[in-house]
Amino acid sequence: MARSISCFFMAITLLAFAPVSLCYKGYGGSLYPQYYEKSCPRALEIVRSEVAKAVAKEARMAASLIRLSFHDCFVQGCDASILLDSGNGITSEKNSNPNRNSARGFDVIDDIKAALEKECPQTVSCADIMQLAARDSTHLSGGPFWEVPVGRKDSRSASLSGSNNNIPAPNSTFQTILNRFKNQGLDLVDLVALSGSHTIGNSRCVSFRQRLYNQAGNNQPDSTLDQYYAAQLRNRCPRSGGDSNLFFLDFVSPTKFDNSYFKLLLANKGLLNSDQVLTTKNEASLQLVKAYAENNELFLQHFASSMIKMANISPLTGSNGEIRKNCRKINS
Ligand code: HEM
Repeated sequence: MARSISCFFMAITLLAFAPVSLCYKGYGGSLYPQYYEKSCPRALEIVRSEVAKAVAKEARMAASLIRLSFHDCFVQGCDASILLDSGNGITSEKNSNPNRNSARGFDVIDDIKAALEKECPQTVSCADIMQLAARDSTHLSGGPFWEVPVGRKDSRSASLSGSNNNIPAPNSTFQTILNRFKNQGLDLVDLVALSGSHTIGNSRCVSFRQRLYNQAGNNQPDSTLDQYYAAQLRNRCPRSGGDSNLFFLDFVSPTKFDNSYFKLLLANKGLLNSDQVLTTKNEASLQLVKAYAENNELFLQHFASSMIKMANISPLTGSNGEIRKNCRKINS
């Protein structure tokens, strides 16, 4: 065990020193950062300036846009299926358990798309907009910058069942969460690094209430949660009511993209059960949490690499899919 963990860490360290720009090349495919260089040279600049406007208005929007990319990519791949509204044969993913009353940022994507349609009509896909917006959101919050390979097309379908079944729930077991990542071609390092995006943003009370009152079905709070922190949370997240009350996922620096989330996990102050299990159920996962808590740079590097990897889940390319005119509707 000791030996396999030390090999594991050698691998982590090597990965840390590989420039992020080199990392995506290993994932192949026909996406590349210069895709819009001729067809819409200002595309990336326009996305960034719209995201910057939205984040200046509300810092939390950065978190919401990063989460959107995750909830898109885990369902049929990164194809902007999450953006489709119901109608014309589409049942929207917006009504799934992970998204209902929770996924946000759709208006910001609309604003970005409107600005891009003005500049270069029907050229930049909604699927690419989402990945660029997630990168810009991370960077604008103090996190890493990486080049986003682009060239995705948009789907002509959505999958409500895929959204319900593929995206892990906050009360899923560690193994279920890891399996759901593995089903998408992601591994333990991706799981721990990407969970680090909970360094920004909010959760509703309903997403973690169970931990405060009845974790094991025994009317007891979760023993892996710091008891003083639990008492504070109970004040605004009562046994019943207050479902939509909001809490910072990382109360130390809720709008700064840094490694403080991992430090909190080590202090038993993870908000979601799915956060805390990263330290309590698997030794290799715990070692990663410790490594990121000690080394912000390592976390930021791994996060960027894992975002590139996630953004490469089953993209539609070439003649597959379309460039939607309106991100909420398939073209008629
Ligand atoms: C590992 C499994 C994961 C689970 C179970 C999970 C679950 C959740 C839950 C329950 C919330 C709060 C939602 C609410 O109450 O409205 C949340 C928020 C968030 N999640 Fe995750 N998440 C996971 C992984 C990820 C990943 C991989 C990313 C991005 C790469 C991500 C990004 C975010 C962000 C940024 C927020 C805050 C959103 C906001 O403030 O609008 N999460 N997550």
